[in-house]
Amino acid sequence: MITLGIDIGGSGIKGALVDTKKGEMVTDRLRIPTPKPAKPKAVIKVLKQIVDHFDYSGPIGVGIPAIVINGITHSAANIDDEWIGFASQQAMAKATGCPVTLGNDADVAGVAEVRFGAGRNQSGTVMIFTLGTGIGSAMFVNGRLVPNTELGHLYLRNQKHDAEDWAAERIRDEQDLSWEQWGKRLNTYFQHIEFIFSPELIIIGGGVSKRYEKFLPYIQTRADIVPAELRNEAGIVGAAVLAAEAGRQ
Ligand code: BGC
Repeated sequence: MITLGIDIGGSGIKGALVDTKKGEMVTDRLRIPTPKPAKPKAVIKVLKQIVDHFDYSGPIGVGIPAIVINGITHSAANIDDEWIGFASQQAMAKATGCPVTLGNDADVAGVAEVRFGAGRNQSGTVMIFTLGTGIGSAMFVNGRLVPNTELGHLYLRNQKHDAEDWAAERIRDEQDLSWEQWGKRLNTYFQHIEFIFSPELIIIGGGVSKRYEKFLPYIQTRADIVPAELRNEAGIVGAAVLAAEAGRQ
């Protein structure tokens, strides 16, 4: 089934048509800068633009950097606070005229990695972390998602900021950290994650994951820790997969 997947990010909103059986994009990715401020009305207008661009009608999957429960967004870390408590899925469906399946951006990216990427055929606990503006997390137990984990917001010992404000890719950039300095921060973070959850596998996604040789050597965990295979496409692919499945229920 060919389904539209859309990934709402802090800086860009990206969409493409996806073959949800193969887990592959079948068109180029359309990227439109995220409106500033990223209020629901402005962002939803961009979704409509993407739908029109692909001349699409059918189910749409959307990932957003927020806690999503039954289509309602309950947090807004790198988007406008107007999203908090907003019936986002319903508003997106109304504006586009298409049924929408909305999920947390890291959760939907995780779905793609577990089905088609670095986490396929892996049983037990698999955790995916997206390193970007924030730190997104997704946790799967025997292939089943435990949604809305938000582990970028945990506090490490003696830290004034939450983990994502200390170790996200954005911080490496803003504080001009060397790969070693950043890698050591990630090591502290992932060792703590491992102590709490003991996953079998940790997958690192986000744009920076293609430079994994630079920072993965600093991270020492018992669990295997590997780069995502779908890279920046995971959000689009995973969102489309969830929408296609929702349509079949
Ligand atoms: C948000 C999460 C999101 C992550 C990655 C965090 O700041 O709270 O919902 O998954 O950023 O975008």
